[in-house]
Amino acid sequence: MFSVNSCREENSVNIKALKGFKDILPAETPLWQELETTARAIFAQYNFDEIRMPLLEETALFQRAIGDTTDIVEKEMYTFADKQQTLRPEGTASQIRAVIENGLLVQKPVQRLFTIGPMFRHERPQKGRLRQFHQLNIEVLGSESALVDAELISIAALLFEELGITVSLELNSLGCPQCRPAYRQALLAFIDERHDHFCSDCRRRSSSNPLRVLDCKVPDCRGQLSAAPSIQEWLCEQCSAHFTEVQEGLSRLGIDFSLNKFMVRGLDYYCRTTFEFLTGDLGAQAAVAAGGRYDGLVELLGGPAGTPGIGFAMGMERIILLMQQAAPDLRRMREPLDIFIAGIGDAGQKKAHSLAWELRRDGYSVGVDYEGRSLKAQMKLADREHAFFVFIIGDDELAAGRGILRNMRDRDAEQLELELKAEAFHRLDEFLSVNQPE
Ligand code: HAM
Repeated sequence: MFSVNSCREENSVNIKALKGFKDILPAETPLWQELETTARAIFAQYNFDEIRMPLLEETALFQRAIGDTTDIVEKEMYTFADKQQTLRPEGTASQIRAVIENGLLVQKPVQRLFTIGPMFRHERPQKGRLRQFHQLNIEVLGSESALVDAELISIAALLFEELGITVSLELNSLGCPQCRPAYRQALLAFIDERHDHFCSDCRRRSSSNPLRVLDCKVPDCRGQLSAAPSIQEWLCEQCSAHFTEVQEGLSRLGIDFSLNKFMVRGLDYYCRTTFEFLTGDLGAQAAVAAGGRYDGLVELLGGPAGTPGIGFAMGMERIILLMQQAAPDLRRMREPLDIFIAGIGDAGQKKAHSLAWELRRDGYSVGVDYEGRSLKAQMKLADREHAFFVFIIGDDELAAGRGILRNMRDRDAEQLELELKAEAFHRLDEFLSVNQPE
């Protein structure tokens, strides 16, 4: 005899999700959908195309693009060592790999692309920081214009505005291979003079990548760094003019920002403009979106020489937390059901079964219960699903050839033909258009 409890005769096990890996449950998915829908609409307004890449790439792609001495590459990548393959820790390197490999820049010399999806970093999990997290990732390849920098930043600003989230914008320029070496030397000299006052991480990093020291969160190091030379004062003429133009562009668009000479970002590919959108509402995880220019990266990854690029990524988990904080009661519900069909008894359920098929084919969202529950229990279910209507079919209704259509908003009921064909559908449409929720 078939048992409903188990198809196999083994002892049960209790397996949980990995640390830092989170289920996004049905109660949360409407919020995610709202974020994605709003973002997609804005990306379309800005004339961006979507690209989707695989999650797994050759490890060398990230080592080259992000940099060997970054935290991401040194400590955080999920790598299958025997295969030299890595789950992507970010989207930029993969996007550029895909653009180069598929010759997209030949078809269109300025590529405006976005991608949405999961990234993987083995960091210490905490609020707003996961090991699998999701990014909305935007890149423009092939334009050096400072207007593009300001335009890109305005995309994030518009999204935050539409979602009702308050953030602040910080801006820096990291210069270029012409001006950065001199700044690097100046910074190195500054660090060397105070060598013993820096933490061991900073001392180690100062020889390989002194700019990284600017990013140190240790209070003593921060204290030392307050007098550090600012890269903004070491920019060459072209970088300085570009940076001024970015700031003028932002001011023209009415986007507020402040300059932060310490912002170096955690990835090595950046040059010139870098920026971060920050919040004070998520504890230590302040960055909600971040990015910048990477004019040498396309060439570094084997693409056409001299192809500039700029982009940014927004952390979706962090945005969702802020959306929940901004409006805890709103946006919790998924779309209500158009109609719930309550079939009572065996014949009623079978009728509900086929009617649901007809209505769904006609575009309605329909709930049905096949567990033989009472009418009262089914009405409760329909309420929980926020159905606009319940259509009741029991033995009496089957005999009369007419079911009872109950409007769940005002509880009015009327009889409707069981064979909900063309005219009856219209009838339902009329109801739904008049009774849509406020
Ligand atoms: P990122 O600063 O490493 O930049 O990450 C961008 C955003 O992703 C962060 O500001 C944060 O909101 C979110 N994020 C990063 N790590 C986590 C985590 N462990 N848990 C939750 N959220 C996280 C990049 O990834 C660059 N690829 C951005 C870019 C695109 N630059 C140019 N184009």
